[in-house]
Amino acid sequence: MSADTERDPPSGDGDVSRKTVPDREGQSLLEVRGLDAGYGDLQILTDVDMDVAGGEYVTIVGPNGAGKSTVMKSIFGLTSHMGGTVTFEGEDITGLRPEEIIHEGIGYVPQNDNVFASLTVRENLEMGAYILDSVPQDALDAVFERFPILEERQSQKAGTMSGGQQQMLAMGRALMLEPSLLLLDEPSAGLAPDFVDDMFDRIDAINDDGTAVLMVEQNAKEALRRCDRGYVLANGRNRYMDDGDVLLNDEQVRKDFLGG
Ligand SMILES: Nc1ncnc2c1ncn2[C@@H]1O[C@H](COP(=O)(O)OP(=O)(O)OP(=O)(O)O)[C@@H](O)[C@H]1O
Ligand SMILES: [Mg+2]
Repeated sequence: MSADTERDPPSGDGDVSRKTVPDREGQSLLEVRGLDAGYGDLQILTDVDMDVAGGEYVTIVGPNGAGKSTVMKSIFGLTSHMGGTVTFEGEDITGLRPEEIIHEGIGYVPQNDNVFASLTVRENLEMGAYILDSVPQDALDAVFERFPILEERQSQKAGTMSGGQQQMLAMGRALMLEPSLLLLDEPSAGLAPDFVDDMFDRIDAINDDGTAVLMVEQNAKEALRRCDRGYVLANGRNRYMDDGDVLLNDEQVRKDFLGG
């Protein structure tokens, strides 16, 4: 159990090419170092460090307002950068715009408003690949295979899909560019208990297929049970980092952050 400390990040080998997800298994993929960030002049994050290795499944937990979503947004270029660095596949991506970051191989599913309600399911998926000249058919087929309901409902307006279906659509859209890292902010939010496990199973499957996952979850115990490694964030700072099951079984973490 290590409080306020980081394990040594896995070292990269200098290979920064795309489409190397299986090759980067276990190697450094994302490195956040000393990140200070916020909104306008308002600083929310202070000196945040975070690592995700190729193919790894990492969870961020912490109280409401801790800055979990702000970490995700900062990685994706949606906050005011105030200090520190974000490195992805060995390349400094600090301060890049979201459309540039997508290009690097990071997909992002925000916590709220993550589909275009007035567009159809298919149009939403196509939007996921808007930076390309044409819709990548292989990626679309793979999304339909992973989420058959999206193929069945491809002509339906996204806003009329159920909460769980919209969450699948948001994930499908983020997968259209076959990212090597998927950022998921509260994927189980608002889902009926029966669907929460199904959503976690789907995330496991995405990760099993080689995509690294960095996920924020209110459903902290289940998320820590499933992930490789977890971070506890509080007041915009790192509090704990360790293997998911170590955090899950730590008395202090349980008492302070997991409801006992
Ligand atoms: N667009 C914004 N402008 C100003 N302050 C913001 C903005 N978004 C978030 N904040 C503030 O940043 C802090 C961290 O918010 P954030 O959404 O990152 O927390 P969180 O850990 O994701 O919380 P939750 O569990 O409720 O989703 C909060 O104090 C919040 O009010
Ligand atoms: Mg949040």
